Amino acid sequence: MEKEFWRFRRLRNNQLLRNMIAETSLSKSDLIYPLFVIYGENVKNPVKSMPGVYQMSIDVLVEECKEIVDLGIPSVILFGIPEHKDPSGSDAYSENGIIQRAVRAIKKEIKDLIVITDVCLCEYTSHGHCGILVGDTIDNDKSIEIYAKIALTQVQSGADMVAPSDMMDGRVQKIRSFLDENGFTNIPIMSYSAKYASGLYGPFREAAQGAPKFGDRKSHQMDIRNSNEALREVQQDIFEGADIVMVKPAGWYLDVIQRIKSTFNVPVAAYQVSGEYAMIKAAAGNGWLDEEKVMIESLFAIKRAGADLILTYFAKEIAKLIDKKII
Ligand code: PBG
Ligand code: ZN
Repeated sequence: MEKEFWRFRRLRNNQLLRNMIAETSLSKSDLIYPLFVIYGENVKNPVKSMPGVYQMSIDVLVEECKEIVDLGIPSVILFGIPEHKDPSGSDAYSENGIIQRAVRAIKKEIKDLIVITDVCLCEYTSHGHCGILVGDTIDNDKSIEIYAKIALTQVQSGADMVAPSDMMDGRVQKIRSFLDENGFTNIPIMSYSAKYASGLYGPFREAAQGAPKFGDRKSHQMDIRNSNEALREVQQDIFEGADIVMVKPAGWYLDVIQRIKSTFNVPVAAYQVSGEYAMIKAAAGNGWLDEEKVMIESLFAIKRAGADLILTYFAKEIAKLIDKKII
């Protein structure tokens, strides 16, 4: 009989067959789980706009990390909320800063976890900006000196990788050479390379208490209208020494992920940010969307676009679904 059309449905007949021909996979080793650490003891403050996400004191954080290891998630990224903020964000580079203490506490008890530290100032500065202000403007070159100090103290405390999220120019090179000079040539840098000035960071600013007191982040984060520029940002970061490049947010920037992945031969991470998480949680909480289905779909979309790694607040839920063989 003549073959008139292709019967695509033959390969969709049952789950085993569908699994055999699946083009994309999602595994635990793709996941990086963001955590918020705050001073105090026995603290576990729910973040209202992010159901299931908490600010945790160091003791609670260490227990949480044990659970994460047991779930098979390989990595966490830490954000700190200091007790005191000042214009230079000094807690961020203090030997006894919240992150430095948190990393030491985790590393003392847990060996098999990649601890990544976010390198930014907005959670630490009294003005909430991602750098050192001169007047009302962030001074790029003064700020990157501080970023190098932050990264070094984090690594000295035991961080396995640093992730600069400030979007100052030249910070990757500054951090790379400062780490190298101090003997940390083996510590990778995951750079937030294409980080957009997005409205989707709203819930994070509640979680990390890092909203700017005036103005916005448009003088350093990328314009949402651009993607050629994202390629230039990534090219520059690779040139400066980034080992992994990141796109952020993820779900509305799949084109950017795909262009970067097809242009550069480096590992690409994507950050499914707080607003992406909150939208799914809110709709599901109202019974308007099936949370599990939409969560899985959102993450496969990011993988399909070409991301190798995903920073996501859903990491624990995904790991549990992988254990149940639902993914
Ligand atoms: C710090 C930083 C932010 C996020 C990660 N690092 C906030 C911002 O840039 O305003 C956002 C993460 C999220 O929304 O989940 N600069
Ligand atoms: Zn910042």
